[in-house]
Amino acid sequence: MLNPQLNKHGELQHLLTIEGLPKSIVNHILDTASSFVGISDRDVKKVPLMRGKSVFNLFFENSTRTRTTFEIASKRLSADVINLNIQASSASKGESLLDTIDNLSAMHADMFVVRHAQSGAPYLIAKHLHDTRQNHVHVVNAGDGRHAHPTQGLLDMYTIRHYKQDFSKLTVAIVGDILHSRVARSDIHALTTLGVPEVRAIGPHTLLPGGLEQMGVRTFTDMNAGLKDVDVIIMLRLQNERMNGALLPSAQEYFKSYGLTPERLALAKPDAIVMHPGPMNRGVEIDSAVADGAQAVILPQVTFGIAVRMAVMSILAGNQG
Ligand code: CP
Repeated sequence: MLNPQLNKHGELQHLLTIEGLPKSIVNHILDTASSFVGISDRDVKKVPLMRGKSVFNLFFENSTRTRTTFEIASKRLSADVINLNIQASSASKGESLLDTIDNLSAMHADMFVVRHAQSGAPYLIAKHLHDTRQNHVHVVNAGDGRHAHPTQGLLDMYTIRHYKQDFSKLTVAIVGDILHSRVARSDIHALTTLGVPEVRAIGPHTLLPGGLEQMGVRTFTDMNAGLKDVDVIIMLRLQNERMNGALLPSAQEYFKSYGLTPERLALAKPDAIVMHPGPMNRGVEIDSAVADGAQAVILPQVTFGIAVRMAVMSILAGNQG
């Protein structure tokens, strides 16, 4: 499999990462999502695009937003959605990931939505489906380790496009724990694919991975300098569960240097928007006055996530447009 996300016609077969995804496909997903946004306001909030299809939500790691919005999106597309309770499944008795997949495939799964703490787990599943000639089954990466969270990246792009329209004149700052963040990686790939001229990464040295410059990103360790005149601020959570050893003095010290306060927000453009993928740590990376303030678009991000996930699933299910 050269590019395991695309079939031989160049169409989306799985969604595993935004890295290497053609701009035309990214734009097609965002345009398709636009057509689904209004469904929430209708009396009948369903379309029959995935009627008769079975979507299995396999969340090996905790989630509030992603799991729930994938479930809502599946139901709005008229799919049957099965949420596997991992703790109560045979995975907790030592069954391998691929044996679990084979057994669910035997129940005629059409799509797996997978979150896993191990980077690469959704790739492994996609490769296994290919090797076992189950090319009718699709995989959506719902976040794997520190590698990728493509639907979060896409819903972030949808949000930016909604509020700012044109990517070609924007300066976007991503702030915080870039090192451990799959969201940061997916956002950087999406922003550069869509032609954002300036992408900044702001954080302490210990949380800025190597190679950002090669990805076209300007790095800043000084928050005040990094926020100057930006159009979009994407705040990140400290991923304490992925940190080995002390990378920071304390949460209080971190907030002093990198917490987004109203004073720091004033350094950005007056119409800058503030985003956060959630879950938020108030008082650690973001002040409540900003999180709940007029420039925050954090809850609209969640709402747009339903339409974006509907778009991804409906395209994978054969509605390529
Ligand atoms: N943004 C995000 O992935 O949130 P959840 O962990 O709640 O799914």
